[in-house]
Amino acid sequence: MRVSVIVPTYNERENLEELFDRISKALNGYDFEIVIVDDDSPDKTWEKAQVLAEKYPVKVIRRQREKGLSSAVIKGFKEADGDVFVVMDADLQHPPEVIPKLLEAIERGAEIAIASRYVKGGKVKNWYWYRKLISKGAIMIGRVALPKIRHIKDPVSGFFALRKEVVENVALNPIGFKILLEILVKGKYQRVIEVPFTFGLRHAGESKLGKKTMLNYLKHIYRLMRWEGELDRLVKFMVVGLSGIIVNEAFLWLFVNIGMDKISANIPATEIAILNNFTWNDIWTFRDLKTKPLYKRLLNFHIAALTGALVQWIIYAVLVHLEVYYLLANLIGIGFSFIVRFLFNRHVTWG
Ligand code: GDD
Ligand code: MN
Repeated sequence: MRVSVIVPTYNERENLEELFDRISKALNGYDFEIVIVDDDSPDKTWEKAQVLAEKYPVKVIRRQREKGLSSAVIKGFKEADGDVFVVMDADLQHPPEVIPKLLEAIERGAEIAIASRYVKGGKVKNWYWYRKLISKGAIMIGRVALPKIRHIKDPVSGFFALRKEVVENVALNPIGFKILLEILVKGKYQRVIEVPFTFGLRHAGESKLGKKTMLNYLKHIYRLMRWEGELDRLVKFMVVGLSGIIVNEAFLWLFVNIGMDKISANIPATEIAILNNFTWNDIWTFRDLKTKPLYKRLLNFHIAALTGALVQWIIYAVLVHLEVYYLLANLIGIGFSFIVRFLFNRHVTWG
């Protein structure tokens, strides 16, 4: 097994020597190479890497036209010749001593091994509570939006290992910062293992990922949702919901006209609307996800409808109590109910 350690760099000159030294010690006994992908750093990181290449097994790629962290990693995949790729930062926030643990996980059968801050034993050094909160909140949004990463605690880590087959012939979009997220959604793999590690302090220089990151992250998630077809589902679910309203009204009218009283007529009309929605969602919105037997799907769909109604009513009651205009309160309630029902159905009824 040959290992390629891919390190994107931008102004990391001062970190290279210690980085190479520690990687070499950690990978003592392994057949490995280090691939530096530098974007023509003003501090001439590439030049320093070339000098150190006399002492360490380093391949240096100096890109003069392209820029960007993700595209640098993708370039590294193309240039590396190992069977397993390790991706890590140059600033020693990712301790090279963790690499053998990642490789062990790969040897145990995982195609992707993530050095994770958020599994038991993992840590982040010197982060204020609100930084942690933002980081975890961002991950939670991703996990709710993208079913494929639902079980992964740190899908935005910049430190991971993978078998080369995971990304071979996979078109990865270089735009987002979070290349691991991209790989987890689009890559070819069965099993992921997360290995705890402590995300340390930057050794020298400064972070390049700042301000715009959060917005970019949301955009990235939005694109991945579209790619996965999850956004289509959301729209279909909404269309079906609207059809349900029409069915509900029509049957209510019909039942009242054949002589039922208005209060009781509402019950069968609602049930028929629920069945209408179930049918369309089953043969359209979630048609590719029928794993549970029909009776379970039906039951769960009803639970979702009831839960949604309850959520809608509670939000309505609370907001009205807070003196929000009642029609607006109802609209907000409907919105939340919609999201709750969609997520429940997506992950439980058809999950
Ligand atoms: N080639 C290249 N081009 N490398 C870059 C670029 C670029 O445009 N921007 C950053 N890098 C390199 C840096 O030199 C460093 O080796 C690595 O990418 C990470 O950059 P940092 O600036 O140190 O990022 P960070 O510490 O803020 O973020 C890290 O942690 C995040 C988790 O909180 C990264 O690993 C992120 O990927 C990770 O999500
Ligand atoms: Mn860093």
